[in-house]
Amino acid sequence: MFKNKIKNIPKHIGIIMDGNGRWATLQGLSRNMGHKEGINAVDRTINALIKFGVKVVSFFAFSTENWKRSEEEVNGIFNLTRDFLHSKRNNFKERGVRITTIGELSPFPEDLKKELDKTKEDTKNNDKLIVNLALNYGGRADIVRAVNNLIDKGATKVTEQDILENLYTGELPEPDFVIRTSGEERISNFMLYQMAYSELYFPKVLWPNFNERHLRKALKVYSKRNRRYGGIK
Ligand code: IPE
Ligand code: IPE
Ligand code: MG
Repeated sequence: MFKNKIKNIPKHIGIIMDGNGRWATLQGLSRNMGHKEGINAVDRTINALIKFGVKVVSFFAFSTENWKRSEEEVNGIFNLTRDFLHSKRNNFKERGVRITTIGELSPFPEDLKKELDKTKEDTKNNDKLIVNLALNYGGRADIVRAVNNLIDKGATKVTEQDILENLYTGELPEPDFVIRTSGEERISNFMLYQMAYSELYFPKVLWPNFNERHLRKALKVYSKRNRRYGGIK
């Protein structure tokens, strides 16, 4: 009933989860404790998204540039992701959550890749909410890969639609709404091609603190936006 109070729920939301490190520093904790709390925020947000009737969410979890961080932090993120998938796999099924990924998974540790494969396979028939994890993902790499795939298939000329279909996001709709937390107002190489007409929103909240109330506010903001796509309304 309360979900009907908000009009125009976006079908696909992209979330650039930022501020884990700053959250940890403010608490006097290690950066990896910030990522741990960030994962709790992911789980909480999944519940809230289901409640509001969102169908697809893409979480930017690890960018092609995040390899620049210390080995300790990078491994910490991988281990937390692996443990999260392992502990929540059955729970995803109960909630109707389908896990998908975008990004180049081959450089990841075997245990994480295995956990990702198993979770994707086990949840593939769920259709309440698609939780798409962007892992070793970069918007530029996505476009380059799409074009190379087309070349491999023999293309000598490509259309906008060809590129769109060959991106990692394939059959997913383009994100209607992209939220970046922590107050940073940039895209940091997220879905560059797919975001051509996404509505953007930059709340100050640090990702580990993000909750249903923040999502509700974000959805209200989105519902007041006027998407014109270059036309007149
Ligand atoms: C986002 O939080 C998580 C990842 C990029 C993996 P950050 O770790 O970037 O947090 P800040 O920006 O240092 O606060
Ligand atoms: C963007 O956050 C990447 C993810 C959220 C995974 P960053 O914290 O890496 O981005 P910059 O370095 O501030 O642009
Ligand atoms: Mg950051």
